[in-house]
Amino acid sequence: MENFETVHNRKNTRSVKWDMVRELFHSEDVLPMWVADMDFKAPDAVNQAIIERAKHGIYGYTIADNSVKNSIVSWISRRHQWTIQSEWISFSPGVVTTLHMAIQSLTEPNDSILIQTPVYTPFYHVIKAHNRKIVKSPLIRENNYYQIDFQDFEEKLKNGVKAFILCNPHNPIGRVWTKEELTKIAELCKQYNVLIISDEIHCDLTYPDHNHISIASLSEEIADRTITCMAPSKTFNLAGLQASYAITSNTIMRKKLERQFLNQGFHGLNTMGTTALEAAYHHGEAWLDGLREILKGHYDYVKEEIEKHTPFQVTITEGTYLVWIDCSALGLDSKALRKFFNVEAKVGLNAGVEYGEEGDQFMRMNIACPRAILEEGVNRIIDALQNR
Ligand SMILES: Cc1ncc(COP(=O)(O)O)c(C=O)c1O
Repeated sequence: MENFETVHNRKNTRSVKWDMVRELFHSEDVLPMWVADMDFKAPDAVNQAIIERAKHGIYGYTIADNSVKNSIVSWISRRHQWTIQSEWISFSPGVVTTLHMAIQSLTEPNDSILIQTPVYTPFYHVIKAHNRKIVKSPLIRENNYYQIDFQDFEEKLKNGVKAFILCNPHNPIGRVWTKEELTKIAELCKQYNVLIISDEIHCDLTYPDHNHISIASLSEEIADRTITCMAPSKTFNLAGLQASYAITSNTIMRKKLERQFLNQGFHGLNTMGTTALEAAYHHGEAWLDGLREILKGHYDYVKEEIEKHTPFQVTITEGTYLVWIDCSALGLDSKALRKFFNVEAKVGLNAGVEYGEEGDQFMRMNIACPRAILEEGVNRIIDALQNR
């Protein structure tokens, strides 16, 4: 069992996070706390399943069969109290891939697609790449906590929106949307006949006192207008294995989506991704509960230290291992802010502006690392501010 404290050397493993430090931050001694993967080993049962599969030595085309699908059905029922049918599942190498496929197969060029900003950067790309129009409903930040501006949300839907890409839990602002909020969203999407594409890749990573609710679980009617995107990749640190899935009870939408995947040449998950997904969902539960405790402890530590020793504010966060830090007190523009973090503090965070103009004065920190690395990163920021 990973103890979450061991520092593993990830350099020279072709790690995007660790092996692109010089290229991205122009110096080898920057501590990477950016892209959303973790510096923890996957659960032992996952590593063991991969080793066992590798012993066979033949990696031909692989079926994600009923046993794999049932592991997903059971996971979602156990972890998220949502009962789905195995026929509702379509596989995909990644959630971003599914977003592209859903936009292409279920909307038309020039359709308006709504997003709640600031939000995960590829949401912008998937809309623009297929000549759809981005409609933004900015989230409201009050007392360091983000909420939905429902008046604006409805106004935007009223003006003709074809689809809404929901991010739940929301990257980068860390909200786990409540049943009340999701119900309001669902009612409005029903009223204005809007398709919901719900990116729930962070669903398993809520802090222990917050529970994820899938919007499609609210009612059969809502499930029928929703494509839910999920994966074990964030949860168990398997992003490089590229295995994810989409869920919809709507047969017509599912057929259109699957046709799009086929037309783009995708016809099945890779062998190790399939093996890892099934092992994680069968055996990863205790590991995950340990991880959630660790992440909450890390978040509390970052919030306390940063707010005690710097003028920054750490957003109230309910899930994900991404922490959204308001650095407006420094009064720097986004370029100078990035320079402060990368050059003066020597930590590699994501610049908030990547998530939309609302993030101009923010930085996003990845806290999914051993405590020793986290403390090093936080101390670098505090020291750099004191030395200014
Ligand atoms: C909200 C969200 N969706 C999707 C992804 C990436 O998913 P994938 O690697 O499966 O394409 C991320 C990764 O950070 C994410 O935060």
